[in-house]
Amino acid sequence: CGIVAYVGQRQAAEIIIKGLKRLEYRGYDSTGIALLNKGLNVYKKKGKVAELESFLKDKNLNSTIGMGHTRWATHGEPNDENAHPHYSATKKLAIIHNGIIENYGSLKQELIRKGHVFESETDTEVFIHFIEDIKENEKCSLDEAVRLALTKVVGAYAIVVMSLEDPNLLIAARKGSPLVIGVGKDEFFMASDATPIIEYTNEVIYLNDQEIAIINNGKLTVKNTANLPLTPYVQTVDLELEAIEKGGYDHFMIKEIFEQPRSIHDCMRGRLDSSTGRLILGGLREYINKLVNADRIVIVACGTSWHAGLVAEYFFEEFCRIPVEVEYASEFRYRNPVIREGDVVIAISQSGETADTLAAIELAKSKGAIIFGVCNVVGSSIPRATHAGAYTHAGPEIGVASTKAFTAQLTVLNMIALSVAHKKGTITEQKYHEMLTEMENIPAKVETALKLNDQIKTIATEFKDSRNFLYLGRGYNFPVALEGALKLKEISYIHAEGYPAAEMKHGPIALIDAEMPVVFIATKDSSYEKVVSNIQEVKARKGRVISVVTEGDTIIPKMSDYVIEVPATIDSLMPLVSVVPLQLLSYHIAVMRGCNVDQPRNLAKSVTVE
Ligand code: G6P
Repeated sequence: CGIVAYVGQRQAAEIIIKGLKRLEYRGYDSTGIALLNKGLNVYKKKGKVAELESFLKDKNLNSTIGMGHTRWATHGEPNDENAHPHYSATKKLAIIHNGIIENYGSLKQELIRKGHVFESETDTEVFIHFIEDIKENEKCSLDEAVRLALTKVVGAYAIVVMSLEDPNLLIAARKGSPLVIGVGKDEFFMASDATPIIEYTNEVIYLNDQEIAIINNGKLTVKNTANLPLTPYVQTVDLELEAIEKGGYDHFMIKEIFEQPRSIHDCMRGRLDSSTGRLILGGLREYINKLVNADRIVIVACGTSWHAGLVAEYFFEEFCRIPVEVEYASEFRYRNPVIREGDVVIAISQSGETADTLAAIELAKSKGAIIFGVCNVVGSSIPRATHAGAYTHAGPEIGVASTKAFTAQLTVLNMIALSVAHKKGTITEQKYHEMLTEMENIPAKVETALKLNDQIKTIATEFKDSRNFLYLGRGYNFPVALEGALKLKEISYIHAEGYPAAEMKHGPIALIDAEMPVVFIATKDSSYEKVVSNIQEVKARKGRVISVVTEGDTIIPKMSDYVIEVPATIDSLMPLVSVVPLQLLSYHIAVMRGCNVDQPRNLAKSVTVE
């Protein structure tokens, strides 16, 4: 979910609606806004921010304080009632909330016994009733009631509370879900990330877990849930407005796909220089020896980031000779995993907020592991929870389906692996230099792959009505097959499976007939010959083969119905190039099917609930 709040001299509604649109990537089942004018008014609607906007057309929006929410449903289906903000029992308080209150069931029972009636099925409504109940019983200030409530709830939250009785007061708090406060001149902003804020100010405070911010009559104070006053740390965000706008493209996703030559380059800038053999990741320096001496690396991640982890497994093993395990964070955290001395954990996350990944980190930390983070969003929770790490510097990724963040993750992970291998001596000097040089060539190769856009659009026309897709690859291209299938599923709702090409004959081959499109990622690498046989197995069963091959290949094109040629590169870097046509294919198919590419149904970009 995404939250935005404002208090100052301007019209709050405008700022909030605009901010919610920027945060829609976090969820878009339903939206709502609370404003103070002749009462505490809450307006909410199922659906996207645009729907709320038209619903607000004839309403009185005159208010210089307000807050809004865009939801990704956890408790209760997306409808008007379950949308945020929620009122307290007297309707004098309202709340917006991102996260989950785990003990809301027992709190709700208790409140129902006291006569409370609830309008929604959400944990959030229980939360605000609970706060008001405390306020009335303890006869305390609202911020004290919020603090006391926070000491009793179990779960994750970023909340903002507003009160009818205090037209100049906003109270915010966080634990586990992000919250940024923008500090302007006589005005304050609050949001789940900095994107709704940067248009107005670049001075921000990232609230920490268990902290409460109180903005009262133009003054900000911060304390923690133990009631200790704190000095907020104001920092400057370095984010340009153009980076979060579409800039002439139809969708964020296609803009982000086309940004990849630059984002990969940005990711290496100042870190890698093949002419001098320099490879320095500043955020790792202090801890790099832990990796050099690691007995094992455990990678935890979810979704696309997990796929980046799978690619990393291949090159960490190849170059560093360190055994690697790649784990779904959600599985890792619940099975009492074995973490030994000498194990190093790498957490990969675009948003830096994924709840399962964050919990996996906490668990590994509690078992004594050293944790590295590979994240895109600067200042997010995961980089702050890890011992060391490297940002991917891909810039804001807004399309829900991850593209440029994935290639930036691969770039950072490659740099980490090479730096470790070099220090460890598991890679020859010559290979090391060859790798650095080739990494510098990758942006240009991705640029070449992007020139395939029109050709891929034509292929998309042929396959847009398919009901299933298989993606097959081996070695470094196996995780790419998984990623290609995930991209298609996410945005076009076509069922797709990624598989190791050789494993196909143990199951998926049964699905192959003349209707079945099979995408082979079959670039020239050490498993090339083997993949050629796998393509033949599919052709023998009349499957329709689309092959991604290395430029100049003369064998596979003869066996394929459609061929996509990408520039040659070193095996371990090929995923950076070979994934590009797959991103484009899923994009065009989704557009042709009339799908909402940037905001596919049921998905959210940052999943801050487990
Ligand atoms: C969500 C997004 C995916 C993403 C995954 C992990 O499911 O829709 O695109 O890969 O979360 O997110 P993270 O921010 O941790 O990389």
